[in-house]
Amino acid sequence: MSLIVTTAQRPSNDIIQTANDIAARLGVPFIPRNRYSLAALREKYEACDLIVVASNGPIIHTAAGDYFFHLSMAELRIKNLINGKHDHMVNAMGLTAGMSVLDCTLGLATDAIVASFVAGATGSVTGLESSQVIALITGYGLQHFTVDSDVDITSSLRRVKVVNADYCQYLKNLPDNSFDIVYFDPMFRNPLYKSSNVNPIRTLADMSPLTPGALKQACRVAKQKVVVKEAAGSSEFARLGLFTAVGGKYSSIRYGVIDCRPKTGGGGQPWNV
Ligand SMILES: C[S@@+](CC[C@H](N)C(=O)[O-])C[C@H]1O[C@@H](n2cnc3c(N)ncnc32)[C@H](O)[C@@H]1O
Repeated sequence: MSLIVTTAQRPSNDIIQTANDIAARLGVPFIPRNRYSLAALREKYEACDLIVVASNGPIIHTAAGDYFFHLSMAELRIKNLINGKHDHMVNAMGLTAGMSVLDCTLGLATDAIVASFVAGATGSVTGLESSQVIALITGYGLQHFTVDSDVDITSSLRRVKVVNADYCQYLKNLPDNSFDIVYFDPMFRNPLYKSSNVNPIRTLADMSPLTPGALKQACRVAKQKVVVKEAAGSSEFARLGLFTAVGGKYSSIRYGVIDCRPKTGGGGQPWNV
């Protein structure tokens, strides 16, 4: 991917500074906008992808679409929870206030924001993202995006800690039982293109499948549960030995659950499905 960073037209000094900082962090050129169109900049600098910094944050233009931070379904899911409705991910995790969550596949952070809202100020959510660009744009949004109508949702965003790391390496370096919940939402093997919020990050995302080795590390790290999101009917559940799957009757999504809490009576599989 050849990437350049520029600004919106007529940028303020702050925007120019932010664009410079982003370019430096990514180790790519900052190109002053100079009234060029984005198409002209693409052609002039032979760039596939362009990050444009505007007053509402950075946006990346890729062949698959444009990605900028937004709440996606997080706000609706949180409002549903407030109104007493349930959320399948929260149920699968058994998530309550005060718990710690390691989200190994942060992406747009929709799931992480919902988890952060439920875990609350006494809990914690750490989000790992191996794509440097996704980690940067999502991390920027989590720190700067404000939900005018709801201070609790804004605080939930701010509490998500973003780490630009590959979960395979990160998990290996964590002590046993260091998070209550370890969560994976890998890019689906068979993408649900039509309904997918992740379409804009498809060319930026790490497409690697979850491995049994990473799952085993996750079970060592999780005090309570490891949860894996996949498309309903996916052969990934069987491949990974996930025999407990929860989700809505009519939903295209399922959550595979591994209960890591010690069982009385011993025995069972390495990760006690
Ligand atoms: C389907 S998206 C996650 C969407 C997220 N759950 C949400 O609510 O927005 C998967 C994300 O995981 C990232 N990813 C895939 N493999 C990874 C790995 N080994 N380590 C860290 N991140 C990874 C991808 O780059 C992508 O951004």
